[in-house]
Amino acid sequence: MSLDGKVAIVTGSGRGLGLAYAQELARQGARVVVNDVDAATAAEAVASIEREGGQAVAVVAPVGSSETAKELVRTAVDTYGRLDILVTNAGVLRDTVLWKMSDEAFDTVIDVHLRGTFTCVREAATYMRENEIAGRIICIGSPTGQRGNFGQTNYAAAKAGIVGMVRTWALELKKAGITANAVIPVAATAMTATLPYFAAAVEADAAGEPMPAFYRHDLGFGTSDDVSGLIAFLASDAAANVSGQAIGVGGDRIQLWSHPEPVVTAYREGGWSAEALEAEFADLVGDNLQSVGERFPALPDELQRPRP
Ligand SMILES: NC(=O)c1ccc[n+]([C@@H]2O[C@H](COP(=O)([O-])OP(=O)(O)OC[C@H]3O[C@@H](n4cnc5c(N)ncnc54)[C@H](O)[C@@H]3O)[C@@H](O)[C@H]2O)c1
Repeated sequence: MSLDGKVAIVTGSGRGLGLAYAQELARQGARVVVNDVDAATAAEAVASIEREGGQAVAVVAPVGSSETAKELVRTAVDTYGRLDILVTNAGVLRDTVLWKMSDEAFDTVIDVHLRGTFTCVREAATYMRENEIAGRIICIGSPTGQRGNFGQTNYAAAKAGIVGMVRTWALELKKAGITANAVIPVAATAMTATLPYFAAAVEADAAGEPMPAFYRHDLGFGTSDDVSGLIAFLASDAAANVSGQAIGVGGDRIQLWSHPEPVVTAYREGGWSAEALEAEFADLVGDNLQSVGERFPALPDELQRPRP
């Protein structure tokens, strides 16, 4: 595996998962455009890559607008001469239940995740097509986008939308040899550190100890570094035939997600009136009604922590 000669942009890479992706891409030989809204973390991310012998440059700008997308691609091309890899990772949360969610909370999350992914991928894909580069687009989804989650209307919309766009881009960019995939990560970061369910794992990690096997294995929950190998693989020549996929990774686990498929198909000449459905719907679907939400197994007693 080598990404020598390749140039990558990783949005939101000042800390957390994005930082781990930027560091791993650099370790594999890519030169990296780091991006964050926080100038200090972006500078430290660049320094951490340089300390390991890699090359990186920072763009401090909020992902969402076309201007930032253009600045990111322009910086990659002006500084390193090309762009091969884009990882759209920047993200924020504004969690609350539907009936308390403000327009501002909805729009902020949609702007950073969904619009930010759209504007950055449009800019990068345009450059890659025009320059005949068989590039790699890697977009970050979430289990919430796949299954729904209490208190995350805005985030579920954005993350499900990202996977929908990835399916479309895999079709549209195929002829140019550009792949587009979604990664569904789970890891201990500032985003997950405050959830009591993960507290014992975050504690162990902070103490420099391995996370309990229940988290790493049963839940697929580990460190940011556990996710970065998949990012580097998808960015590499070895993954040239992998496109349009949603791949979950965390801890010791990797999962290929299915895309939605019809589970029941039935026909009725003349179509399905309300009366016909009232008479036949229960028999038609049988026990095929679909579940929603993530499944969290009960924590073993020794991993229980009090709620803050
Ligand atoms: N941590 C998890 O378990 C998990 C699970 C599923 C999905 N994700 C996704 O992974 C990505 C990274 O999450 P994380 O846990 O590392 O979060 P994090 O909060 O630790 O890091 C996010 C980074 O993005 C930056 N950022 C925020 N808004 C930005 C903007 N408009 N432009 C540029 N940078 C911006 C932040 O400053 C921060 O450095 C997000 O898209 C998140 O939704 C994380």
